[in-house]
Amino acid sequence: MNSTPHDLAARFTELFGGEPDGLWSAPGRVNLIGEHTDYNDGFVLPFAITHSTVVAAAARADRTVRVASTFAPEEAPLTVGLDDLEPGGVEGWAAYPLGVLWALEQSGYRCPGLDLLVDSSVPVGAGLSSSAALECSVALAAAELSGADVSRSDLAAIGQLAENRMVGAPTGIMDQSASLLGEAGHAVFLDCRSGSSRLVPLDLEADGLELLVIDTRVSHTHSTGGYAERRRSCELGAELMGVAALRDLSVKDLAEAAGVLDEETFRRVRHIVTENARVEDTVDVLTKKGPSALGPLLVASHASMRDDFEISCPELDTAVNAALDAGAVGARMTGGGFGGSAIALTRSADAPAVRAAVEGAFSAAGFHPPVVFSVLPGAGAARIA
Ligand code: GLA
Repeated sequence: MNSTPHDLAARFTELFGGEPDGLWSAPGRVNLIGEHTDYNDGFVLPFAITHSTVVAAAARADRTVRVASTFAPEEAPLTVGLDDLEPGGVEGWAAYPLGVLWALEQSGYRCPGLDLLVDSSVPVGAGLSSSAALECSVALAAAELSGADVSRSDLAAIGQLAENRMVGAPTGIMDQSASLLGEAGHAVFLDCRSGSSRLVPLDLEADGLELLVIDTRVSHTHSTGGYAERRRSCELGAELMGVAALRDLSVKDLAEAAGVLDEETFRRVRHIVTENARVEDTVDVLTKKGPSALGPLLVASHASMRDDFEISCPELDTAVNAALDAGAVGARMTGGGFGGSAIALTRSADAPAVRAAVEGAFSAAGFHPPVVFSVLPGAGAARIA
């Protein structure tokens, strides 16, 4: 739960003296389908959720930034000069908001000094993009207070630059795009090469459906390890196949790829190529038949991530299998992998049984209890006060 706007503004005044100039909110996201396709110039289909980060912000007359949060209330505000920001120079969660201010200036905008108080209801490490929510709320606030007119796709790129350079996670553009471009009742169909996007209706309630998020509570980070390795495999695959990005290969190129690539790189490439096709198929199915027909695509996506891309883990597989056994329409892991959350699309009437089955399976396997909750496509980032 976020603090109320009133409480957040009051806390801001306690910490910094004056009143905030405004409050800006940006949501986390669930990716319906299209995993690891974003940095391969491919397609993704995420939606914004109603969990969000809210930042109370006030411009200052100098080039100082003070940043604090409600989730680390014992920490005094961190005070830094805008001119002292540099990649690798900030540790911990403050690298995200400060990285955004740095990235804004790197992108040619002049950022004012700022006082920032951050509050968030997006669970951290759950694969729901708490980092993008934080980046986008701060990007929107700083851009508006700078007086510059920055487009939403530029703001997404600024968030991504912050994450790539200041945090050191080589992530793509999906999460920031979902946070900035999402709308209630819709998913965002994004072409990560051209940057063009289209809203696709995703009215779960009208179809009698619920989308459960199963947070395995296996925490992950994309600054180290597997995520960067997968990205390198994809780049190698593209290079060996003589294309600019894996987006340029289609399913009919896979036979040739099998002859050119080593076995592991081939499987990484096959995931990306088939996943891109599944995103396009999902948009088609949603448009023609509605969400209740998505099951086979979600299940195939999970199998591809488990077997070809190898980014699942026992907890995610257990969540997906238990949900499907209990009658879910479809289920898959969502986000970067190696932990985080799975999603299960279920008929509303079956949701309690699916939830109970997942909890039971976790307990039988000796895993920490998962956190299960349902989500709906919510609004994108906006000024709220
Ligand atoms: C993380 C990254 C995204 C994307 C997903 C995997 O969420 O931030 O850019 O690559 O993983 O689809």
